[in-house]
Amino acid sequence: MKKIVIFDTTLRDGEQVPGCKLNTKEKVELALHLEKLGVDVIEAGFPISSPGDFASVEEISKAVKEAVICGLSRAVKKDIEVAAQALKHAKRPRIHTGIGTSDYHIKGKFNSTQEDILERAVQCVKWARNFTDNVEFYAEDAGRTDNEYLARVIEKVIAAGATTVNIPDTTGYCLPHQYGEKIAYLVNNVPNIDKAVISCHCHNDLGLATANSIAGIIAGAGQIECTINGLGERAGNTSLEEVVMIIKQHKHLGFTTGIDTKMLNPLSRIVSDTMRMPVQPNKAIVGSNAFSHSSGIHQDGFLKDAQTYEIINPVDVGADSSKIILTARSGRSALAYRFQNLGFSFDRNDVDVLYERFLAVADSKKEVTDDDLNEMAKVYSQKEKVIA
Ligand code: KIV
Ligand code: ZN
Repeated sequence: MKKIVIFDTTLRDGEQVPGCKLNTKEKVELALHLEKLGVDVIEAGFPISSPGDFASVEEISKAVKEAVICGLSRAVKKDIEVAAQALKHAKRPRIHTGIGTSDYHIKGKFNSTQEDILERAVQCVKWARNFTDNVEFYAEDAGRTDNEYLARVIEKVIAAGATTVNIPDTTGYCLPHQYGEKIAYLVNNVPNIDKAVISCHCHNDLGLATANSIAGIIAGAGQIECTINGLGERAGNTSLEEVVMIIKQHKHLGFTTGIDTKMLNPLSRIVSDTMRMPVQPNKAIVGSNAFSHSSGIHQDGFLKDAQTYEIINPVDVGADSSKIILTARSGRSALAYRFQNLGFSFDRNDVDVLYERFLAVADSKKEVTDDDLNEMAKVYSQKEKVIA
């Protein structure tokens, strides 16, 4: 099994979400949770961006004992120096530096040339190496960068001392096979690629961040950059819980992670509460409906054998047990199950009669609750008594 390095950027890319800003105390608390979760690298912030972010990176560096602490910088000497300063207490510091490599960035943002950007990429890595031997280089917008040029940049930054090379699909543009082919191209065309770990950093603009990251590791990448609940710029980043569970559920891929999956749901809630950013109910792994069954066909199958409609045991991801939700699409077995859970022992004939009443209630509201069931049972039992 190849261990995939889990690089969490909830506190950096995730915190860039409007309204998700965290103070230093909140960031340190979340960093300690992330360390307990088992992430290998915590990107703690962008130290030059504000005094508050500098302080957060500094305090996280003091508090965290095991995980690598990473600080972001642009390919600018001052940024790198400030990142190194913020990381000086870290047991295992990493400087993450880089520059845009697509024509959009080279021409539009920098009004520059490929050769100039290549030189700046090499210089920033060399400069960062003065402070730590753990340097990650990002080729921003690598997703839309020409592969031949990208390979030249990656070869040169590895020669300059980069130990991880990040291939971000910054705009979430790539299709999974394209992103996988990009990583494979680097594996096959960068002569010194074995000297560095390739990292996938995918955004979710087309809903493909998770698929692209998995395509990336299948093609040879060794690190995934991700966030709890998929938080991040615009439509977000690769969701940590999704890639970790894909790796766990598809063992035949030959990958493993150091994540304690039982912490996924509890930590998702902590991040959501701290960042005041609700999780969509249908979110994979951590959404409130991720283990809810509401249609009759599914409920019947699930009640006979949970695996019929569930590929993950909720216990494995620290979620509440699976729920049988009663709606107008539910069937008799779900109704009987819910009555049983409330302590009623109705036989088949009772359930047949109650089911007609249930459908009338269910058609008039979105969900039939325990209170509705108790009321139905009360009315039914009273009628029975009168008849008897
Ligand atoms: O999406 C991106 O390209 C980034 C880099 C700064 C790593 O977040
Ligand atoms: Zn990003």
